[in-house]
Amino acid sequence: MSQISLPPSLHKNLPLTALAPMQDVTNLWFMKVIAQYGSPDYFFTEYFRVNETSRLSHSILASITENDTGRPVFAQMIGESIPDLVRTAKELCNYNIAGVDLNMGCPAPRIYRKKAGGGLLLSPEKVDRILAELRQAVSDRPLTVKMRIGFDNTDTFYEILDLINRHNIDLLSLHGRTVKDMYHGVVKYDLIAEAVKRVDCPVLANGNIHSATHALSVLAQTGAAGVMVGRWAIGNPWLFHQIRQALRGEAITPVPLVKVRDYIERLWQTPEAPNIPERARVGYLKMFLNYIALSVDAEGQFLRLMRQTQTEVEMFKVCDRFLLTDTTKTLALAPYSGV
Ligand SMILES: Cc1cc2nc3c(=O)[nH]c(=O)nc-3n(C[C@H](O)[C@H](O)[C@H](O)COP(=O)(O)O)c2cc1C
Repeated sequence: MSQISLPPSLHKNLPLTALAPMQDVTNLWFMKVIAQYGSPDYFFTEYFRVNETSRLSHSILASITENDTGRPVFAQMIGESIPDLVRTAKELCNYNIAGVDLNMGCPAPRIYRKKAGGGLLLSPEKVDRILAELRQAVSDRPLTVKMRIGFDNTDTFYEILDLINRHNIDLLSLHGRTVKDMYHGVVKYDLIAEAVKRVDCPVLANGNIHSATHALSVLAQTGAAGVMVGRWAIGNPWLFHQIRQALRGEAITPVPLVKVRDYIERLWQTPEAPNIPERARVGYLKMFLNYIALSVDAEGQFLRLMRQTQTEVEMFKVCDRFLLTDTTKTLALAPYSGV
């Protein structure tokens, strides 16, 4: 059994919640924004790239060193070079991190072709060596793993779960899809349930958790210690709060669309905003709006019109039309299907 305790959760009688690491999204500023609507128990950084020449990225480090959300932050690494992973893990331990997390799920071909991220799932023998060395290097705080159920099938799934036990991993975040599934298709919650039974450490169930009700059903189905939410927390930053309400059996507070307009304004006002050309800034905001829009109108009009905009004025005109016209409207508790 694992000897190292995880940071305390916000509400000790409730299952854990975590914001999934998302490159180009879960930076310091986004963590701060999310915290204003109801923090998750744990944050995870975007991944630190690790190779022979890598140095800790200053901007990712800021999400640890300047984090004033009050919630613990796990530092995620991606790579396959054992000496460099060990070096980086030790460097990260000089900062106020909740633990070191290893990415074994990234589906980007440029990553998995180098046998890093999701590519590691093809080589249990390599995973065995990496985890052995990392466990030695990270002996005084949690060492955690985030992975998928396999590369293009589940042939290595149980073997890798056994390695999680052998190396006393402290927390497993499991996305119930294969690397080849990318972000689509059915999430295999039944395999997450298998993992919960097999590993000694707590498991965070991950994949398509889009609403508080769904979070409850995933927890019931998997027996997981908690849920990790990615894209649907972009679409609904109130989701962690709503999950806690649902867990306590309370009614979920509906969010008026006018508050969603405020959230979008916050997203627009990034600290780097003054240095970004308008077109790029609009493009960046659209990445967030792609998720938000799915819970705004069932016909998909907001999504379609928002995507056509090119300037700040056009973008906010569309936002105002859909979010400010009818003050009785609220954000859907789950994204509309078919949008
Ligand atoms: C834009 C984006 C960036 C991501 N970056 C990372 C990452 O840096 N590290 C990681 O482990 N997973 C990353 N993921 C995967 C998510 O953490 C999560 O496992 C996946 O999105 C499934 O959860 P969801 O359905 O709640 O979004 C990323 C996903 C997205 C959509």
